[in-house]
Amino acid sequence: MPLKVNYGVDYNDDYNVYEDDNYHYDDLYEYENEKRDITHQTKAKQEVIRTGAWRCPICTYDNEDSMSECDICGALRNCLVRISQTGDSTADTFHAGGGRCKSSGASVMVKSLFASFRHRAPAKSVAFEAKNDAVLIEDAFIIRRNFQEFLRAFSSQKHQNINIAAPFKFDSPSPDDLVSTRLHSSKLDSKANFKRLSSLDMSTREREKNILIESELGTEGPNSSSASVARDGGVKERDFASDCGIKPEILVSRMRSVSLSSKSRTGNVNEETGTSNLEYKPEAWMIPDQAEDRLSQLNLAIVGHVDSGKSTLSGRLLHLLGRISQKEMHRHEKEAKQQGKGSFAYAWALDESAEERERGITMTVAVAFFNSRKYHVVLLDSPGHRDFVPNMISGATQADAAILVVDASMGSFEAGLDPIGGQTREHALLIRSFGVDQIIVVVNKMDVVEYSQERFEMVKQKLGTFLRSCGFKDSSVLWVPASSMENQNLVATPDERLFSWFHGPCLLDAIDSLQLPARDYSKPLLMPICDIIKSQSQGQVSTCGKLVTGAIRTGSKVLIMPSREVATIRSLERDSQACKIARSGDNVTVNLQGIENNHVTAGGVLCHPDFPVRVSNHLELKILVLDIKIPILSGSQLELHIHHAKEAATVVKILSLLDPKTGKVTKKSPRCILAKQNAVVEVVLQGSVCVEEYAESRALGRVSLRSSGRTVALGLVTQIMKTQ
Ligand code: GTP
Ligand code: MG
Repeated sequence: MPLKVNYGVDYNDDYNVYEDDNYHYDDLYEYENEKRDITHQTKAKQEVIRTGAWRCPICTYDNEDSMSECDICGALRNCLVRISQTGDSTADTFHAGGGRCKSSGASVMVKSLFASFRHRAPAKSVAFEAKNDAVLIEDAFIIRRNFQEFLRAFSSQKHQNINIAAPFKFDSPSPDDLVSTRLHSSKLDSKANFKRLSSLDMSTREREKNILIESELGTEGPNSSSASVARDGGVKERDFASDCGIKPEILVSRMRSVSLSSKSRTGNVNEETGTSNLEYKPEAWMIPDQAEDRLSQLNLAIVGHVDSGKSTLSGRLLHLLGRISQKEMHRHEKEAKQQGKGSFAYAWALDESAEERERGITMTVAVAFFNSRKYHVVLLDSPGHRDFVPNMISGATQADAAILVVDASMGSFEAGLDPIGGQTREHALLIRSFGVDQIIVVVNKMDVVEYSQERFEMVKQKLGTFLRSCGFKDSSVLWVPASSMENQNLVATPDERLFSWFHGPCLLDAIDSLQLPARDYSKPLLMPICDIIKSQSQGQVSTCGKLVTGAIRTGSKVLIMPSREVATIRSLERDSQACKIARSGDNVTVNLQGIENNHVTAGGVLCHPDFPVRVSNHLELKILVLDIKIPILSGSQLELHIHHAKEAATVVKILSLLDPKTGKVTKKSPRCILAKQNAVVEVVLQGSVCVEEYAESRALGRVSLRSSGRTVALGLVTQIMKTQ
């Protein structure tokens, strides 16, 4: 998988002919035709499958036979049973034994590509219809009720030392340098090892503490929400979940007497390593010096429906801020024009692979950096196409905040909010479930609607309703009308067309107004590995990822899980610059020595040698089921995503249904779980994953469950069970 990291300006740049103001782009009609042609060509190509390869049913890429998951979109090869949302059974058919794909699956890709085109706006007409409003709003309310209630049920706790408050904080902030999401084949190398270790891991474990989560029904005002709980060293983690009570009408329910088992990493170590009852104490260097003169790192995920202009926006921003040189920009423009895709020039700054450029869509997360006045921003440009949501998940789990890009043009905005396949909707839900509570909504392509205030207000009203239903507080959502193509409202005040009615901040100022989430320096190191770079010649392995907790520095020893090997940190890089120390929240490349290549895998975790992360393939989860058509049954097969790992999962037991308001058990051992229900289930994974209970670590205790290319449920790990 090509790593997509933007290293910034080429300082040898001596090209200055490029004139930004004259930069022009293709008409949308032309663009659509381009995409259609490509799709047909691609389809034709897909007829031929190489021998010794298997074709991904999701993105149609022909993978090496040794790959257990698609090298491009990360879809698992062996996820055999599907819960179809569409009832389309023609798409994916697998041999039960080898997990080989029989049908090409090309139709899925082609269909989904064209599905989104159908809604594209033809050129610049501005017409506003109230069509489907009722459905949209009704739908939004249903989701709002369920999602909010689920959030609330997990939200507040007034108890002991564990904060289960943030209902769906799958992951607190974080990004990393190289977010190429697919797990490498190296993951397979260590799987046998993995299983052995995980059984060791679990067999000696006893649960140490039972946490009673008190809950109560009540209404919380906007200010009663900051239920931050001091953790270990007194460092607080901001808890958004408890302040997701956006409006008085949204009652914040609390679970009563729900007993969760939890186990601290300290306890694990004692049993597994024989080092008795270690109490973790951060060393002085691990806590940042307030006087330190360096911009804080802000991990910013760019998400949104396909073709909303995320990459164009990112490319334009980087160019305006000097991270992409004129020379480089000119090259992109020239190449894009040569391929008949002039309008994609800015997007090509981030969409670097031939396949992405050919298809005109982003497939993997691109990582770039720039400095604002307040932050060193790590930009994570996500793919918007539904087939690449797994990649989006891996990148966005690291986000401290997000920019949700929506296309203002007629039909396109509506397509993004479509309950089936609208990625504005799915991305917003996912991003919220990762614990992101601050969001900037860029209403892009305002040029297409002639900078109409009416259209902007309509988008704001409809999307605002939906975002509230996801748990975003009104005060944490910033609205920025913009045109990436015409450079309006990105880094400076827009011209009269926008400025006549919009006086809010431009995008760059909006980014500076974001708050940095509190970082947890008081806990032992945890860094989920997003990607690895292996240098055969130098025998060196580099891992990329965001530190969830703790700190590392050159020379530190780290434990690599699940292989349980210890390595030494040879050097650290932040934004391709060498650095000595990295702390919680930093997105870094860690160059390791004293470790063999095959002991490090993407989806693994770097930890403190005395405080290993847990490893298991058997989990108890609390889940909120989204809008599915076919119920989840015992035996249902899903795809489980947790930090940068994913595994095929089988629901082995449905323990109970929960009241979304109170969290109380309403039914024990139900036969199935329907849309929008809350439940406790047990899942067994095909391979083990590094995991923590949510009570211990939010970042490693949040999961999302997917099936047939759609997210079907969001969940929290409530218990790690003995590996099966
Ligand atoms: P995916 O990553 O595949 O989801 O797409 P994306 O959201 O990154 O969209 P991308 O940046 O690739 O842009 C898609 C198309 O929209 C390109 O043809 C862009 O030129 C066009 N586009 C982006 N921003 C604007 C804008 O502000 N105005 C107009 N008119 N077109 C835009
Ligand atoms: Mg893109």
